[in-house]
Amino acid sequence: MNKLSVADLRINYTRAGLTEAEAPLNPLELFDLWLSQAIAAEILEPNGMTLATTNAAGNPVARMVLLKGFDHRGFVFYTNYNSDKAQQLLANPHAALVFWWAELERQVRIEGEVTQTTAAESDAYFSSRPRGSQLGAWVSAQSSVIPNREVLEQELANLEQKYLDQDIPRPTHWGGFLLKPVMLEFWQGRPNRLHDRLRYRLVTQGNWIRERLAP
Ligand SMILES: Cc1cc2nc3c(=O)[nH]c(=O)nc-3n(C[C@H](O)[C@H](O)[C@H](O)COP(=O)(O)O)c2cc1C
Repeated sequence: MNKLSVADLRINYTRAGLTEAEAPLNPLELFDLWLSQAIAAEILEPNGMTLATTNAAGNPVARMVLLKGFDHRGFVFYTNYNSDKAQQLLANPHAALVFWWAELERQVRIEGEVTQTTAAESDAYFSSRPRGSQLGAWVSAQSSVIPNREVLEQELANLEQKYLDQDIPRPTHWGGFLLKPVMLEFWQGRPNRLHDRLRYRLVTQGNWIRERLAP
């Protein structure tokens, strides 16, 4: 066991605050600002986010994915449509995202509904990926049980031969999801656990209510 007890680990957050005066009325503008600051801070995987879904039993399931697109519509990530997460999203399109930018002492929580991105959007992103990642999408029947690692290596070698000197097409079972947000919460760590929390709720198309929450 660790000599240090995790119960004794604590940080007093002092870097910054988040006031109503500096928070735009549109939360996507604030997200854009915070993401660009996370990128500028050279955080490892600033676009890494936890994606929470629910399974058929109604139980929560969470894992990391990478944000690969962000605009006025919402948040885009890519995955295998046969994976557990994708099957869960197709059955229940409500999902949540969490970003944790430790170096900036910031968390962003997002909730909303997902839809599949268009085939054209998935094609455009797939064609921008490195060849190795494109082959990986073909090789991996994501979330299924496999006997060993060698089957992956073997399949990769087969596909490298098959697509030698050829463009690799996007598998139809691989593509994006777009999460349209109805809630975003911005959390900035503050001293003495009195953190700043500003929550935005979508009330009507394009209209957000901003509220301060107790930490
Ligand atoms: C930093 C990080 C980023 C990841 N990004 C993705 C991603 O963008 N898409 C994806 O399908 N899996 C990604 N994964 C792997 C997932 O966490 C997960 O293992 C995989 O998608 C299978 O999840 P599922 O069985 O719940 O569908 C990432 C893992 C890590 C640690």
